[in-house]
Amino acid sequence: MSASIESGSGASGSGTFAVGGDIEVNRLGFGAMRITGKGIWDEPQDRAEALRVLKRLPELGVNFIDTADSYGPDVSEDLIREALQPYGGLLIATKGGLVRNGPDLWVPVGRPEYLRQAVLMSLRRLKVERIDLWQLHRIDPKVPRDEQFDAIAAMQKEGLIRHVGLSEVKVDEIEAARKVFTVATVQNRYNLVDRGSEDVLDYCGKNGIGFIPWFPLASGNLARPGSILDSIAQDHRATPGQVALAWVLKRSPVMLPIPGTSKVKHLEDNVAAAAIRLSDDDFAKLDEQGRAAAKAS
Ligand SMILES: NC(=O)c1ccc[n+]([C@@H]2O[C@H](COP(=O)([O-])OP(=O)(O)OC[C@H]3O[C@@H](n4cnc5c(N)ncnc54)[C@H](OP(=O)(O)O)[C@@H]3O)[C@@H](O)[C@H]2O)c1
Repeated sequence: MSASIESGSGASGSGTFAVGGDIEVNRLGFGAMRITGKGIWDEPQDRAEALRVLKRLPELGVNFIDTADSYGPDVSEDLIREALQPYGGLLIATKGGLVRNGPDLWVPVGRPEYLRQAVLMSLRRLKVERIDLWQLHRIDPKVPRDEQFDAIAAMQKEGLIRHVGLSEVKVDEIEAARKVFTVATVQNRYNLVDRGSEDVLDYCGKNGIGFIPWFPLASGNLARPGSILDSIAQDHRATPGQVALAWVLKRSPVMLPIPGTSKVKHLEDNVAAAAIRLSDDDFAKLDEQGRAAAKAS
């Protein structure tokens, strides 16, 4: 493939974004959810490879790593500490506010005393004195949202958290949170064929908030042989997944994709996408087809 690491410049080819206005990272990051077991539960099948993936990140210029206390739970944060602490130059973003009742089960708990425990435990596991970016994994519908926001603001004031992010939120929820603290990032599901957060992305763009699309590699049926995505990928001697990532990166300067993998080879392929430059014409064609596919699904 032509978009190889050798011909590119690693993750720095994706350009930079200053999280919270003061932590500059290369926009193409890494999601550390896949370095756990099946159902995002327990240890990964190949622990040594998971550690190799993490250690390869700085070599490839990836300096923005997304995790959560609930990945494993604990496993992802523990592996990150083992592989990367003391983290020189890396932004480790974590999340809290979900508990796990088993594989593939995720339950929001937003009571202030639990959020505080989540932050304190992430500090211990990651072995840091302050979390540079802590994200509320979900607003708990069972708890008044301002109680959750106030608890987070208090922890920020106390110095436990540097910047705050939200996850799976709508514009009115971001606006409510911004009355209590500065929202540095928003993490919602978004990809070429999943466009339900276009309004949130535009809002983030207008307000200088980083937008972290999860599941960024997906391209659904658009990846079928003979499709426009397939033909653009062939032009770049790249894979459809790499072109889907390049499209996401071109969509907005506040976009911080965090493709996740448990394999070094896949990590290298994903980082190589930072070197792909889509023409405006190809971007527009993919945009149109992606919107149509999203509507049809
Ligand atoms: N805020 C939230 O609610 C939320 C929800 C879900 C995820 N996230 C975050 O977003 C990150 C990314 O989301 P995601 O893991 O769902 O989606 P993704 O990164 O788009 O896709 C990951 C999947 O694609 C595979 N893959 C990755 N690179 C590949 C490659 N080059 N070739 C072939 N297969 C490849 C991985 O398997 P292999 O391990 O085999 O490579 C894995 O099954 C997560 O790590 C997590 O940090 C956040």
